[in-house]
Amino acid sequence: MSVKVLILGANGFIGSNLTEQILQTRDWEIYGMDLNTNNIESYLKNKRFHFKEGDITLQKDWIEEQIKNCDVILPLVAIATPATYVQNPLRIFELDFEANLPIIRQCLQYKKHIVFPSTSEVYGMCPDTEFKEEESNLVLGPIHKERWIYSCSKQLLDRVIYAYGAHHGLNFTLFRPFNWIGPRQDNILNIKEGGARVLPQFISNILHNKPIQLVDGGIQRRCFTYIGDGIDALIKIIENANGRAKNRIFNIGNPHNNYSICELADILISKMKEHPTYAEKATQAKIINSASQNYYGSGYQDVNTRVPSIENARKYLSWEPEVDIQTALNLTLDYYLNNFTKTNK
Ligand code: UGA
Repeated sequence: MSVKVLILGANGFIGSNLTEQILQTRDWEIYGMDLNTNNIESYLKNKRFHFKEGDITLQKDWIEEQIKNCDVILPLVAIATPATYVQNPLRIFELDFEANLPIIRQCLQYKKHIVFPSTSEVYGMCPDTEFKEEESNLVLGPIHKERWIYSCSKQLLDRVIYAYGAHHGLNFTLFRPFNWIGPRQDNILNIKEGGARVLPQFISNILHNKPIQLVDGGIQRRCFTYIGDGIDALIKIIENANGRAKNRIFNIGNPHNNYSICELADILISKMKEHPTYAEKATQAKIINSASQNYYGSGYQDVNTRVPSIENARKYLSWEPEVDIQTALNLTLDYYLNNFTKTNK
């Protein structure tokens, strides 16, 4: 089966890893757009990768042409760093919500299958021990806790897509990543505190001799999912777009990699202590406590525990995450430490 896939945000964390895996393992054609190309340089010459550098909020004609031309559309452009939810909430609404809405409508207009990134964040502070796509309540805090604008924007997009599916025949799949980690997640050179997701933030802090900050003690837990497992699920979704994945929602997470942020910091430091070049930095790494009010600001509120049920993905995609936390950290560190070494030569 040859497929034409449109990836908006092809240079991003999910986009670049998906592009790489498709080009290496399938004969599909990819049409891609992004503002930058640093993560996909080595694929730009590939004959099956048709890339245009540009801004999705400006290149509307190009996007419409590609939606007409492609079979499956993945609009992956969004800001997904919690510090930005609090500091610049309208930017989240404008990009994550407003810029994606016309693309969703064009998928309906041209009868194309949309594979849309929802998020584990939609469950918010749901008290369930395991989040189920069709059953769990989506629980958000009060308006002044601006962190929830991302969750709320994504939830409304989920509901819009679902409604277009139920009432107008849109073909869709919603996937909810649970703390995917791995190469190319966030750039660790020169990030501000809170500017990256937790793992690249911690790696960056150790490499730059800054203390690791555990927000509110780091007792909150996440199920860390290796990007390779996530990409396998996405490929299965694309392959089954008109079949078992059609009009379904999938949590894509690894319930076995359920660790507190404090435990993550410990495992990371002990791994880096084994590294020939960076062992000393790891030995000197300090861990300090940081109140969320100080670290993110008063608009922050946290999720204490977030475990996916992956029954849907097991049942309809025959998907199972395979990469444990140790291997995920080894693979992620290989990437970041090699890059750091190269840029500091
Ligand atoms: C993330 C982001 O919202 C999205 O990337 C995504 O949609 C979703 O969750 C997901 O990937 O499932 P969160 O897990 O809170 O949200 O993001 P991180 O920035 O990775 O933070 C994880 C935890 O580590 C939070 O409790 C945060 O307070 C803590 N943290 C972060 C620290 O203790 N110290 C830091 O320096 C950074």
